[in-house]
Amino acid sequence: MKRQWIWFLAGVMALVMTGLILVQAYWINNAMQVKEQQFRQIVTHTLNEVAREVERQEAVYHIMDEALPQESDTVPWHFDALQYEKQSHRGRRPDPYPSKDRGFRSPPPEIRDSFSWEVIIGESYMESGTSSVMQDGEIKTMVSSRITQKSVFLRNIMDRMTRELPPVEKRINLDVLNRMIASRLQERGIDLEYEMAVKKPDNRVLYHTPAYSEETRSGVFQQALFPNDIPSIPAFVSLYFPGEKGFIYRSLGFMRITSIMLILTTVLLFAITLLVIFRQKKLSEIRNDFVNNMTHELKTPISTISLAAQMLTDPGFQGPGKNIDQISGIIHEETRRLGLQVEKVLQTAIFDRGRVKLKKKKVDVHRLIETVIKNFELQIRNRQGDIILKDEAQYSVAHLDEVHTINVLSNLVDNALKYSKDRPVITIRTRNRGKGLEISVEDNGIGMSREHQRKIFDKFYRVPTGNIHNVKGFGLGLSYVKKIVEEHGASIRVESQPGKGSKFIIFIPESNQRHA
Ligand SMILES: Nc1ncnc2c1ncn2[C@@H]1O[C@H](COP(=O)(O)OP(=O)(O)OP(=O)(O)O)[C@@H](O)[C@H]1O
Ligand SMILES: [Mg+2]
Repeated sequence: MKRQWIWFLAGVMALVMTGLILVQAYWINNAMQVKEQQFRQIVTHTLNEVAREVERQEAVYHIMDEALPQESDTVPWHFDALQYEKQSHRGRRPDPYPSKDRGFRSPPPEIRDSFSWEVIIGESYMESGTSSVMQDGEIKTMVSSRITQKSVFLRNIMDRMTRELPPVEKRINLDVLNRMIASRLQERGIDLEYEMAVKKPDNRVLYHTPAYSEETRSGVFQQALFPNDIPSIPAFVSLYFPGEKGFIYRSLGFMRITSIMLILTTVLLFAITLLVIFRQKKLSEIRNDFVNNMTHELKTPISTISLAAQMLTDPGFQGPGKNIDQISGIIHEETRRLGLQVEKVLQTAIFDRGRVKLKKKKVDVHRLIETVIKNFELQIRNRQGDIILKDEAQYSVAHLDEVHTINVLSNLVDNALKYSKDRPVITIRTRNRGKGLEISVEDNGIGMSREHQRKIFDKFYRVPTGNIHNVKGFGLGLSYVKKIVEEHGASIRVESQPGKGSKFIIFIPESNQRHA
């Protein structure tokens, strides 16, 4: 799959996901609004109900007071609202005449019974005990006198309720009002602190809860008290909930958390998928490079050998004095190179299958370095370069696998040669440093940037500029080096600057040397 195609798909997926997130956000916002509306409706309805209840209670008081004027002082016009709440909650119709223990007296029988004509008439008969002798005219007079009394009674009540109203401060029991609002809100599932004030129409505050503030502009509920007063409404309740937003937000808790979790999981999966795709893509590119490189590396010695063989069979070439030694030398050298290349690939395959088996023994590092230098001397001389050993380490004996260690050093010197310009100068230095032995291989070659330094120990990795200098390789050398160094319990790092050269430093800790 082409890289652009992957990017295109990723772009489309990102767009789709952004769309999904936006839709989700829209729905959550919508749900918030619906919840807010519900909340406002419940509060408005509750306040309305409370206002009606307060008005009703006042009416009851006036009736009681008219019926029992001598005891009006002892009758509290506000009976316990909470008691009343509980009663009505049990499904019973509220008792309009609560008994003494709840602060009210039972009304006298003349009030209780006088609402029915039959009772009135029946009672009259009973009272007189001479029902049969009572004349129609007498009954009519008695009835009309009672109706007159009743209408006076009602008119008096109406007068009290319209004209003789005391100031509003005296008409409301603020404590009862507050408790009534709290309990009704709680019943409807709004168990939330509120701040409240009772104000006159000119905004003069009659009462307010301790933390009430006039600053709050939004989310304030207002409810008229005694809304049926003539001629005007005497006061209103102003109420707000400081924690309203949080309350609504919390009521959507599950939905919100689930949405956020789902969105995060989707984004995460998307990112992981992209990462895997790109890693696979990179891996397949690296493999392709490797196959190309390997083919090239193997083809060169094969074609050289085949050319040499052709020369040997050429009739013009045969005969004494012809340079057979030179040709066989070429064949020998190329076969060795071919063998080395195949060996490198094989080694990597062995690594992939599991741990390397090291045959460690006590060896002098200086001796191994000298062997490596000897192997490379000719090549370096051909390029008019130099290779120097600075054996500064006093304790140079360590517990190492001889063959693999020579391979490691050879790979480093090979790289130093391959990635150097005209006259390579390679310095191999040993030192006892801290609690261990340090071996460094330094060159004056092309160097590399910090970005590449992190990756050169990866399998198949080659700094892209490598090919410009027409230097071939598999990108396997340093991954082999790192693996072997770490199997020995040692470490390797690189210091390099582009254009100035590189230095590979191996550190063998004392623990390794102690085995020696
Ligand atoms: N001394 C050095 N100076 C500059 N670049 C280096 C040096 N050593 C390694 N590199 C960079 O690191 C890359 C990886 O090196 P490595 O030895 O693993 O592979 P290679 O040399 O390309 O191939 P081979 O498997 O044949 O060794 C090289 O391609 C090169 O770009
Ligand atoms: Mg190499």
